[in-house]
Amino acid sequence: MKEIKNVVITGASSGIGLETARFLTQRGYRVFGLARTIIEGEEFESLKCDMTDYARVKQCFDEIEARAGSIDCLINNAGMGISGAMEYTSEEEIAKIFNLNLLAVINASKTILPYLRRSGGGKIINLSSVGAVIPLPFQACYSSSKAGLQTFSLALRLEVKDFGIDVSCILPGDTKTSFTSRREKSAVEVDEVYGDRIKRSVEKMEQDEQNGKPPITVSKVIYKIMKKKHSPACKTVGFSYKMIVLLTKILPTRLMLYIVKKMYG
Ligand SMILES: NC(=O)c1ccc[n+]([C@@H]2O[C@H](COP(=O)([O-])OP(=O)(O)OC[C@H]3O[C@@H](n4cnc5c(N)ncnc54)[C@H](OP(=O)(O)O)[C@@H]3O)[C@@H](O)[C@H]2O)c1
Repeated sequence: MKEIKNVVITGASSGIGLETARFLTQRGYRVFGLARTIIEGEEFESLKCDMTDYARVKQCFDEIEARAGSIDCLINNAGMGISGAMEYTSEEEIAKIFNLNLLAVINASKTILPYLRRSGGGKIINLSSVGAVIPLPFQACYSSSKAGLQTFSLALRLEVKDFGIDVSCILPGDTKTSFTSRREKSAVEVDEVYGDRIKRSVEKMEQDEQNGKPPITVSKVIYKIMKKKHSPACKTVGFSYKMIVLLTKILPTRLMLYIVKKMYG
């Protein structure tokens, strides 16, 4: 297996990305953190990059390769959430979440391939979500962007395996980060059409996230995947979420949806 030395992580200014950048730096990796915010006072190297600006992404990869000699691993972590009833979600909001959560990851993954090949192989690790397999009401765009990302990861994995490039997808469950406070909420939370269903559903999800695992739990899973000779195609974080994902596979869809509606509908 090719040894990973130089790692690029997107969305490294907060939450899972920041924790992972620190964790990997402490373990001797040379880490380059990309985000729209420059990160000061950290041991890893920070580059300002909006992942939806494709020219800038390529420029950053060039700069990192020039500085470090090679790029061995890309962790596509930058992401966002929106919530609200689908019919009240604007075209701009829909475009924004798919641009970041799916299209920007597809772009970064395709752009990094020649860099990884030049380095003799490597890994791409994409942050999907348990919300990709549990269809979340009032977060339909989030769930579907992450489901798209999961399928993309699996298909790309098949395309590039022969070049010594492993593509993996991670499905974290609720994790306590700023993701909750940064979620873009719909202006309509209570009205005569939906009653208070939107508000109750979003509040329940926010509560679950704030009672969730610390981000280091996800960092450890990322680290394990980086060390593995044969990376798993998909990895769910945490035993209880593994059981939930398993249930979604074995339960009839109607029953699975009934349970999700009881919880979040
Ligand atoms: N927290 C959870 O419960 C949870 C559960 C499952 C999956 N996830 C996934 O895990 C990933 C990390 O989430 P988190 O919880 O750590 O969230 P977070 O604390 O809100 O961090 C999100 C990161 O993405 C970056 N980002 C946002 N827009 C960007 C853009 N256009 N270009 C570059 N970077 C951008 C942010 O940095 P800047 O604002 O500085 O650009 C920030 O560093 C996401 O993909 C999320 O969907 C989270």
